[in-house]
Amino acid sequence: MNLFDVYPLNDVTIVKAKGSYVWDDQGNQYLDLYGGHAVISIGHTHPHWVKRIEEQLEKISFYSNSIQIPLQKELAGKLGTISGKEDYQLFLCNSGAEANENALKLASFHNGRKKVVAFTKAFHGRTSLAVSVTDNKNYVAPVNETDNVAFLPFNDEEALEDYFTRHGKEISSVIIEGIQGVGGINVASESFLKLIRTLCDKYGAVYIADSVQCGYGRSGKFFSHDFAGVNADIYSMAKGMGNGFPVAGIIIAPHIKPKHFQLGTTFGGNHLACAAALAVLEVIREEKLLGNATMVGKYLREQLAAIPEIKNVRGRGLMIGFDVPEELGPLKKNLLAHQKIFTGEAKPNVIRLLPSLALKKKDAEEFIDALKEEIAAIHETA
Ligand SMILES: Cc1ncc(COP(=O)(O)O)c(C=O)c1O
Repeated sequence: MNLFDVYPLNDVTIVKAKGSYVWDDQGNQYLDLYGGHAVISIGHTHPHWVKRIEEQLEKISFYSNSIQIPLQKELAGKLGTISGKEDYQLFLCNSGAEANENALKLASFHNGRKKVVAFTKAFHGRTSLAVSVTDNKNYVAPVNETDNVAFLPFNDEEALEDYFTRHGKEISSVIIEGIQGVGGINVASESFLKLIRTLCDKYGAVYIADSVQCGYGRSGKFFSHDFAGVNADIYSMAKGMGNGFPVAGIIIAPHIKPKHFQLGTTFGGNHLACAAALAVLEVIREEKLLGNATMVGKYLREQLAAIPEIKNVRGRGLMIGFDVPEELGPLKKNLLAHQKIFTGEAKPNVIRLLPSLALKKKDAEEFIDALKEEIAAIHETA
């Protein structure tokens, strides 16, 4: 059997990983500033994470959600403390798309409405509702097409107010990434997020903060939406939550009440997933990784902004993007081939940095030196 060929792949086979580094089957070492697409939060194969999963595996890895699973309550408690959303309620699932799917569905159950407001360049996942609110026609199959979704320009307050004035009472929810990831690292302005809060309150809509990529400390705050100083009604999270172990969830404000059987899952919140997620939160707290993300991220952005060829350096914490001008087209490819550094990208010309939140300053320095070297090399061959 062949694999279903859905992605173009780098010709690299990673066989080992530790902290911010990975190794291929030829023994080459790479600096990982991509984190397997923003997934590696506390560092590859962190010893505490490995130990917690191994210990759990020896006890019990799975039983369905028909019994008490105290690890879920422990996770909810620790999540409440670290995020400051102590009075929220946790629903666990398995992936980012599934988290958003549940968030959108729950909002609709809650207010009985159908319309969703999403924004240009948004990415919310591949499942049916999640992809319907994703602004990329290539991902939307005919069966996912719906008139229930309105795409408004990102950060355009006038357009948002205007849409609410015309359709406010039909809107079930507004979904927004605090920092757009796939869309190219675009930060939602604080006043835009505040306006979403105000309009949702005024018209009875639900504010959904997609924190799948920008959440879990990546921005330097636990949720990047919190920079605006207002709470969302539902936060979705995934990627960094398990440091590579598939676990996801939504946290739900207290005014949204649960009803039996509206949401459900077989695998979500299993013992092993909870152990992985708990280990991540324990390491984030113990190693003060939010502070590290803020500090190393600031250093990186400052250094990048000082490189004249690099344009529009942006982002928060360790979620950073910059534009690569056309003449430096091969830069990302060369960083991997010559410098053994993984970075992310966003089409057409953005390099995205999504490293572990434990990235060390010396690793950031290594990257900046390598980047300068590769820029100079491209100039020389031009
Ligand atoms: C902001 C955002 N939401 C949702 C998703 C979907 O997550 P998953 O691939 O785990 O379904 C992604 C994945 O890249 C994402 O970046």
